[in-house]
Amino acid sequence: MAKVRLGVIGIGNMGTTHIKNITDGQVQDMELTAVTDCSPERRAWAAEFLGAHFPVFADENELIQSGGIDAVLIAVPHYQHPMIAIEAFKAGLHVLCEKPSGVYTKQVREMNDAAAKSGKIFAIMFNQRTNSCFRKMHELVSGGSLGAVMRTSWIITNWFRTEAYYASGDWRGTWEGEGGGVLLNQCPHQLDLFQWICGMPRHVRAFCHNGKWHNIEVEDDVTAYLEYPNGATGTFITSTGEFPGTNRFEISLEKGKLVNEDGNEVLLHRLNTSQREFCKTSSEGFGRPECTVEKLQIENSNPQHTGVMQAFAGRILRGEPLIAEGHEGINGLILSNAMHLSSWLDKTVEIPFDEDLFLAELNKRRAASKTKPAAARCST
Ligand SMILES: NC(=O)c1ccc[n+]([C@@H]2O[C@H](COP(=O)([O-])OP(=O)(O)OC[C@H]3O[C@@H](n4cnc5c(N)ncnc54)[C@H](O)[C@@H]3O)[C@@H](O)[C@H]2O)c1
Repeated sequence: MAKVRLGVIGIGNMGTTHIKNITDGQVQDMELTAVTDCSPERRAWAAEFLGAHFPVFADENELIQSGGIDAVLIAVPHYQHPMIAIEAFKAGLHVLCEKPSGVYTKQVREMNDAAAKSGKIFAIMFNQRTNSCFRKMHELVSGGSLGAVMRTSWIITNWFRTEAYYASGDWRGTWEGEGGGVLLNQCPHQLDLFQWICGMPRHVRAFCHNGKWHNIEVEDDVTAYLEYPNGATGTFITSTGEFPGTNRFEISLEKGKLVNEDGNEVLLHRLNTSQREFCKTSSEGFGRPECTVEKLQIENSNPQHTGVMQAFAGRILRGEPLIAEGHEGINGLILSNAMHLSSWLDKTVEIPFDEDLFLAELNKRRAASKTKPAAARCST
């Protein structure tokens, strides 16, 4: 195989960008050989953009069974991700799935099992993992030189969206369509990075405010408090109703502090000793460990979506590393499911939580949703 032959499922905002990235030659080892969308308008766009003879399917199963592709990229609304991925694995295809991996962990576990059984390559579009700031933070925390994590904090409130945004598709802003709000649509990247860099918390207490700033069913404002197995605590705060908002990710560790603002640079405050040790042994009441501050050298390259796609092709063709393994998508979803469940039950949730209870609670909200299942499956 010289290049991976890719079929794109879903030609909306994101699918269209992926298609253009490939046709612009930005993904060296990939060629686009089929697309599908259930919307006639989007198919008409594809026929015009890709040419009259290009295979444009009306149904994802026709594309999956077409025989002209090695892999699919799934870029449709969230609930369908696991179902379509499972069909693709059954057909012997490799899968690159958009975030989030699904809406509830039970369906994502089925997808992960199908991926493992198929032996095919499974990747997830966590394009922010290509940002070298986050890679550096991951390397420093997991490397252990800064000691144990004491506190985590991510304020990510610069996701401002207007009412027009939520009105742009029937599936948006509804329990039946999106299965959640800012946690499911905007924050899967941060929730993935949060757990990738800081590990998984054991307890979650969250307050999710539904339709606080917009006329929507789902949450657009969240404050969550987290407790980690080692006793560290954390907060995760997000909103789509605030402008200009803030994007500040801070990790306090025994021997230092890492601060990242706007994904641009990492400030490392490095202590000459463990502050816990210093606290116990210093004879001075107002003593402080020595601390130096450095702006870390970060590589400029941040290929984002095309980086994830090229790595996916590289794994298929030459066994190279992925940016994010597909099965890891469940971790960030566990965090958002735990936040939702905590808010719904008005109590602290322990991870692992009761996934049947989560689904029952989600389904109550879906049943009352203004979006009906057919529109949620395929809306324009
Ligand atoms: N990685 C990122 O940076 C990023 C950014 C935006 C969106 N996304 C993700 O991409 C996905 C799509 O989001 P979007 O903003 O493009 O939505 P969108 O509504 O603009 O596009 C979705 C498209 O999928 C089509 N569709 C729905 N069901 C289908 C099916 N079964 N078969 C074929 N086509 C189908 C719809 O007709 C629509 O054209 C979501 O999972 C979203 O979270 C990722």
